[in-house]
Amino acid sequence: MTEILIPSIIKIGGGSFQEASATLVRLQCKRPLIVTDVFLTRQGLSERLRVQIEQAGIECGIFSETVPDPTTDAVSEGVRVFMAGQHDSLVSLGGGSPIDTAKAIGMLVANGGRARDYKVPNQIPKGGPPHLAVPTTAGTGSEVTRFTVITDSETGEKMLIAGGALVPTAAIVDYELTLSMPARLTADTGTDSLTHAIEAYVSRKANPFTDTFALAAMKTIWAELPTAFREPGNRNARERMMLAATQGGIAFSNSSVALVHGMSRPIGAHFHVPHGLSNAMLLPAVTAFSVKAAEERYADCARAMEIANQLDSDQVATDRLIQGLLVRSEELQVPSPKTFGIPEERYFSLIPTMAVQALASGSPQNNPRVPSSEEIEQLYRQVWA
Ligand SMILES: [Fe+2]
Repeated sequence: MTEILIPSIIKIGGGSFQEASATLVRLQCKRPLIVTDVFLTRQGLSERLRVQIEQAGIECGIFSETVPDPTTDAVSEGVRVFMAGQHDSLVSLGGGSPIDTAKAIGMLVANGGRARDYKVPNQIPKGGPPHLAVPTTAGTGSEVTRFTVITDSETGEKMLIAGGALVPTAAIVDYELTLSMPARLTADTGTDSLTHAIEAYVSRKANPFTDTFALAAMKTIWAELPTAFREPGNRNARERMMLAATQGGIAFSNSSVALVHGMSRPIGAHFHVPHGLSNAMLLPAVTAFSVKAAEERYADCARAMEIANQLDSDQVATDRLIQGLLVRSEELQVPSPKTFGIPEERYFSLIPTMAVQALASGSPQNNPRVPSSEEIEQLYRQVWA
């Protein structure tokens, strides 16, 4: 049995941002709180959203103090603002961080307690208030997923929290919001999406529903990401990337991510490497490590991405996949942990801790080849330079 959870309304297309207020009316929201970040506020986008919502006769507030790699402190502040303003719903606007923050705010408003009480494998008893998610990157896919990743301000741990209660009620997927994304962010968020698609497809939790979304997403991202990276204003590439990011989100939310994500979160938590970038640092090596355990599935990926063709054997196809990922990393100028500037001694001394944290997240257990703690440590050493 497979249970599929997705938002009940997803509006996709250029200009769909204008549908935010109508969507809130449909959801009978009376007092939404916009959850966003300082960057988008400076750009004037959150104000545009607020004006649009208020013109529909709905009163709304703005909470713009979300931070990259959202923390429990930022979430607590959001909960306080939500309660103080007697809000009844959430509208998240931004990349994965504001969307993940809004999910955690909704969860704590409905259930009380602290974010760490709900980290995997714990359950979230009650659903939160209605949540409309509006992503501005292509992307984390968070607008359609049942996950949020919150960093514990006390311990520094990046906690994975999962549950149907976290799936946004509605999503607006408007590629026009991504046209001004800088090249680095485009590459990193796009590689995050590619990783979602590949991991959802090779995961032990993959299923025929998620397979179709995963294959469609990886095909598009492989073809379009270099164009979006080089030509930020290319509308066709941006439109296709945006849809693929959402498809990748649907895929991994209803299947899972795996070892890349499991190992990526600790790197992000300890060294403040953006999520997509830490995935990118790991993807080729983890794929090479895993490939023999699911050769057919990885070969399907290579063929979907058109790195290999139907006549290639699975082994040839997977060799091309690994090679293709390495070449792509160079093309997208992905640094290693070393060239990113992570202090060497600290990196190596934290490897045992990072391996424990990776395993505790549960993601490596969905990998086709389930690694031991030592194998994870070895992979962390391998990707260093
Ligand atoms: Fe991700």
